[in-house]
Amino acid sequence: MEKRDFIKNSLLAAGALLLPRKSQALEFYPTTLNAEWAILYGTWCGTSRDAALWISEGMNGIAQVFDVRENPNLLNYKNVIVGGSIRSGVTSKELQDYLVKNKVILSNKIRGYFAVCGNMRQPVKLEQYDQFFKNHLVKLTGVEGVVNRVFLGRVTFGLMDPDSRRMMQSMPDMEEYDNLKRSECLAFGKEIIEKI
Ligand SMILES: Cc1cc2nc3c(=O)[nH]c(=O)nc-3n(C[C@H](O)[C@H](O)[C@H](O)COP(=O)(O)O)c2cc1C
Repeated sequence: MEKRDFIKNSLLAAGALLLPRKSQALEFYPTTLNAEWAILYGTWCGTSRDAALWISEGMNGIAQVFDVRENPNLLNYKNVIVGGSIRSGVTSKELQDYLVKNKVILSNKIRGYFAVCGNMRQPVKLEQYDQFFKNHLVKLTGVEGVVNRVFLGRVTFGLMDPDSRRMMQSMPDMEEYDNLKRSECLAFGKEIIEKI
């Protein structure tokens, strides 16, 4: 590479690093213009992303959907739904950090929570609601008394980081599964808009 090209490429790379990351909802999904609703999710392998999208479909597409890793600015949204997948009993660190950092902004916007868990493939009980909402998300946000739903999720070995995959595959009787139901997510979305 010529010296001039090398300098040009280095400057371009440095410039790219300096550019702020633009947070972008899923623009090409059916969504109302100037949406007042946002759904914020934290996921590892995508189950909560699908749950969030299906909840927004149940809300007739009036919400914009954000992965918390985009670090979205939710200041201009009136209503926010927060949800995430569960590992070791809690949501992702990125979601937890975001909720703490944006606690003040979110305090009068949060209208609902959801969580997606494996729950050893057993039906969800009150215990999971207490664990994921009362003892976890509510503690981070300070917002309680809003609609909430726990969904069963899925396991796809090929999407996991190597350590998690090894750990999951070493568990007796662990196999891939898919227990997330679109109909349940749609129904939760409908419930949210009917309640508001
Ligand atoms: C490393 C790991 C830890 C998990 N820990 C829990 C847990 O503590 N409780 C639970 O109910 N499910 C647990 N699960 C199951 C996940 O919540 C479930 O697979 C979920 O659908 C994953 O969502 P994701 O696709 O967003 O990663 C765990 C899964 C993995 C891979």
